Amino acid sequence: MKGFADRISTVEEYYFSAKLREVNQLIADGKPIINLGIGSPDLAPDRKVTEALKNTADNQQSHGYQTYIGIPELRASIAHYYAESYGVRLNPAKEILPMMGSKEAIMHLSMTFLNPGDQVLIPDPGYPTYASVTKLVGAEAIYYSLDLAKKGRPNLEELENSDLSKVKIMWINYPHMPTGAPGSREILTELVAFAKKHDIVLLHDNPYSHILTKEPISILSIPGANEVAMELNSLSKTFNMPGWRVGMLLGRADWISEVLKVKSNMDSGMFLGIQKGAIAALNLGESWFSDLEHVYQSRRKLVWKLADKLNLSYSTTDSGLFVWCKVPEGKTADQLVDELLYDKNIFITPGKIFGSQGEGYVRFSLCMPEFKILEAINRIKI
Ligand SMILES: Cc1ncc(COP(=O)(O)O)c(C=O)c1O
Repeated sequence: MKGFADRISTVEEYYFSAKLREVNQLIADGKPIINLGIGSPDLAPDRKVTEALKNTADNQQSHGYQTYIGIPELRASIAHYYAESYGVRLNPAKEILPMMGSKEAIMHLSMTFLNPGDQVLIPDPGYPTYASVTKLVGAEAIYYSLDLAKKGRPNLEELENSDLSKVKIMWINYPHMPTGAPGSREILTELVAFAKKHDIVLLHDNPYSHILTKEPISILSIPGANEVAMELNSLSKTFNMPGWRVGMLLGRADWISEVLKVKSNMDSGMFLGIQKGAIAALNLGESWFSDLEHVYQSRRKLVWKLADKLNLSYSTTDSGLFVWCKVPEGKTADQLVDELLYDKNIFITPGKIFGSQGEGYVRFSLCMPEFKILEAINRIKI
């Protein structure tokens, strides 16, 4: 064997891929682990969603290859969802591409836009996949920080003073994971102007817009954004369907058709039952979102209590599926994570896995029922 591809040396196995092996071993050893680490919604999708999947699976005609662009009814439902949720009108034939997961779509987009040596602006802290996929395609990750006191605004003044000539893509993500910084229309408006000025493709990753937000915002609702920006969205968190792998790419028709050149060579369409379930989810309407809001609000209050007991500081105005906490002086985040895991059987995520600016922070997920979070609180003795 003449060796592995050079690109393999640019990345490591995904943190959760490795860490969950360790956590699962502890569970196999009988430890009563409470998993506040990963953001995989524990609640079920709506019954209409699972019924649609079952009914389709029972139909003999459902099992063939599907089109690369999803059935028209799915694209129409995405268009309806975008109009209702964000006030954005999209052409379902040209400006919508269903994707098999938004994580996977980060690779599709990177393969479509990036050459080796191109630079990509990536939030630090941020979703680790932006940087790892950038490296896998031979491009260079350039990190930018977010001002948490200003709803997660990037320091655009600092970026303006750097050499942006090789920057092709900027990843943004509001509500921001892991910090929960909500972003705002003003920030997105500034970012659109910045991208236009420097001829940068602005890619907004938007999976948390319905989780503990005042108003869901799409970048495509910002005037002029459709010239420079595209958006990724996902059913994983919004509709409790992370295992289904349904995402979507929205925006410029001419860019979508380039992405399709990559995608149609990588997959052979999404199982019809999954598409039918996704259609049912996208048409659930307002009450689904208010129910979700209630669940996560109550859970978040309990996680704040847990954080108080651990003497951690956090913001009470953030959005999304996590609580981002600063560890007090005198203890490192790693120490806290290990103490909780090995002494209290509570798994949380160290902030450093999201980038250097995540050092000294930890992330709690809200994907656990209230009784489990209460149990976690009870395991901490003051
Ligand atoms: C910021 C962000 N983007 C994208 C994803 C991927 O979501 P999915 O691939 O399930 O759509 C996640 C998942 O945790 C995330 O936190």
